[in-house]
Amino acid sequence: MLEAINLTKTYKSTPAVKGVNLYLEKGETVGLLGPNGAGKSTTISMLSSLIHPTAGEVLLKGESIKGQPQHLRAILGVVPQDIAVFPDLTARENMLFFGKVYKLPKKDLKNRIEEVLKLVGLEQQHKKQVKTFSGGMKRRLNIAVALLHEPEILIMDEPTVGIDPQSRSYILETVKKLNEEKGVTVLYTSHYMEEVEFLCKRLYIMDRGEVIASGTKEEVKNILSSEHTIEVEMEVAKDEFLQRLQTHPAISTATILDKKVVLMAPKEINLLEDVFAAAKQSGTVLKGIQIMAPSLEDVFLHLTGRTLRD
Ligand SMILES: Nc1ncnc2c1ncn2[C@@H]1O[C@H](COP(=O)(O)OP(=O)(O)OP(=O)(O)O)[C@@H](O)[C@H]1O
Ligand SMILES: [Mg+2]
Repeated sequence: MLEAINLTKTYKSTPAVKGVNLYLEKGETVGLLGPNGAGKSTTISMLSSLIHPTAGEVLLKGESIKGQPQHLRAILGVVPQDIAVFPDLTARENMLFFGKVYKLPKKDLKNRIEEVLKLVGLEQQHKKQVKTFSGGMKRRLNIAVALLHEPEILIMDEPTVGIDPQSRSYILETVKKLNEEKGVTVLYTSHYMEEVEFLCKRLYIMDRGEVIASGTKEEVKNILSSEHTIEVEMEVAKDEFLQRLQTHPAISTATILDKKVVLMAPKEINLLEDVFAAAKQSGTVLKGIQIMAPSLEDVFLHLTGRTLRD
């Protein structure tokens, strides 16, 4: 339905996106993950024709959108990373404004606004100025604006950043419902792996402007199928312990998260004795050890060397 071919964006001499290929099939929910600065928002801006690619192109139903972005805009809703609503207007006034921008017929607009405000759970607050809203309410209004013209494709750029857990699950449920009940195609960017696990069937991982992994969740997890993850919990975090593990020849990555060290190593190698020895040599008291199959988060860590929320 929507396809990026070799999408590239270079700012002055900085390459932000380097030859990204991705596609969305009708009715799919697809995740786009990557550390800060990976090029996700830039890719989204090109996909939605907000910025011109330096090279490459975007195809809608097989045809280039170059020169005719209006076809795409008519069926695309974009929830930008930064909230783009007017703080001095009420929720309803914001919606009316954007309804005019989208050139929605006046007679349908009223009903549609009510429908969408209800969908995002803001029907009670429509008369309030947006500047009095909480972060979560602003985010929900941002989403409502993107849904106003009943888009067939919805692209969301970190729509749940900085909001309370309740608003977050409301948003996730709403997006899931839109996909399942209305067949809306979704591209979803997030720093929360559990959101992508919940919503998306397929995903792309970007780093430094490139897609470095893609496929169904299972396929992406299989990248590490020959490895396992070992979580070692310490009483007190010790650098020396981490360093010893990082220099161990059989350990592919060792990362510290609070008081936990997360190791990845080939399944066939038994590391437990070496972990205990490293703890002893560095004077680290261990609280627990767990061996697990790699999660999507582990794959991300393995590929990018960073956790999703770094
Ligand atoms: N308008 C711009 N001018 C110059 N450089 C830019 C511009 N927009 C983005 N960049 C650079 O392009 C790279 C990719 O940025 P982008 O915003 O696409 O990343 P991102 O994956 O969305 O990151 P985040 O998770 O922080 O939102 C970064 O190095 C950024 O500094
Ligand atoms: Mg971004």
